[in-house]
Amino acid sequence: MHIATKIVHGEQHPDKTTGAISPPIYQTSTFAFKDVEYGARLFKGEENGYIYTRLKNPTIELMGRQIALIESAEAGLAFSSGLAAIFATIITCAKNGDHIVCDHTIYGGSYAQFNSVLPRLGIQTTFIDATQYDELKVAIMPNTKMIYIETPANPTLKIIDISRCAEIAKKRHVLLCVDNTFATPYLQRPLEFGADIVVHSATKYLSGHGDIIGGAVVGKKDFIEQMHSEIAKHTGAIISPFNAWLVLRGLKTLAVRMDRHSTNAMEIANFLAAHSKVKRVYFPGLPEHPGYEIAKRQMSDYGGMIGFDLNGGKEAGKILMNSVKLCTLAVSLGDIDTLIEHPASMTHAVYSDEELQNTGIGPAFVRLSVGLENVQDLIDDLKQAFEKIGR
Ligand SMILES: Cc1ncc(COP(=O)(O)O)c(C=O)c1O
Repeated sequence: MHIATKIVHGEQHPDKTTGAISPPIYQTSTFAFKDVEYGARLFKGEENGYIYTRLKNPTIELMGRQIALIESAEAGLAFSSGLAAIFATIITCAKNGDHIVCDHTIYGGSYAQFNSVLPRLGIQTTFIDATQYDELKVAIMPNTKMIYIETPANPTLKIIDISRCAEIAKKRHVLLCVDNTFATPYLQRPLEFGADIVVHSATKYLSGHGDIIGGAVVGKKDFIEQMHSEIAKHTGAIISPFNAWLVLRGLKTLAVRMDRHSTNAMEIANFLAAHSKVKRVYFPGLPEHPGYEIAKRQMSDYGGMIGFDLNGGKEAGKILMNSVKLCTLAVSLGDIDTLIEHPASMTHAVYSDEELQNTGIGPAFVRLSVGLENVQDLIDDLKQAFEKIGR
């Protein structure tokens, strides 16, 4: 089955009892037991069934299964947010005394988790540039458990070669985890390139409508089962059944949305590249992007995220972002609406000045999450905002 068909049908079948084509929302906290013996057997794991929604819920399970299916994974688990999904992944793999190698260009909230939360648990992270494969190899130590990357990375759209990282990870017996939020499984499936685990902020393209917070992890069945039984059910970062259902509903249109996000973004990237007030455009679909060839190989299209630097520096960026009318000045991404933001002072404000400089997130860097509006209307909006910058 083509990925676009899997996205529409996949694990979602008409309800067995009613024939409803939209899956039921099991909006319940607990489940009745037939008798005391049955309840006890469920708790012992001798029988399969539902006990309590923090432990298992049919709507939440379906979200995990559906994302696993389209990511070509054996199993998947849904979480209350992308950061909860990342945290559960790490503490399933690493404990006090262990080490992680992480690319230094990642979402600011993920960076804060690696940089300030995990050290409290005795898990240290070395940040490197994972496109420098020798640097990556050197950073792996005997206690390293995982290589963690985002590709395309937030916010600079840096592209990392998944197959190459997977090769290094396999050789050194560490796991490769890829945050696939920017690409989505419609455009890129890291497990097919040798990654072990994929994490998502389902808040973004997977749900697609900017109305929920959610997360997901997919990978091998053993790993997901271990994460569920040892970590997830005892830490409780559970998505609500209603939000899981909204993700399932959003997923149904993932293919058409990503096609439109990608074509709109390509047109806007070309418009920006030709604009006199733009210094540099960061979009993996432009041949001058340093990761273009790799992106072409591992992605089927380039997605809806663009970064750009302005000639007029931070002041020019401020004027632009304060002058847009159709684009909305807001963090988050992957929504139907076009969103514009300033990573250095917003999504990546936790980065020090030195880290911002190392990762190329300059003061004049603007991030655009291109939505599903008519592309000419978006270009016109940007044009009128650029005019406000002056000469
Ligand atoms: C690439 C990436 N990963 C993870 C997250 C965290 O997701 P959430 O906000 O759902 O916790 C974000 C949030 O912006 C993100 O951009």
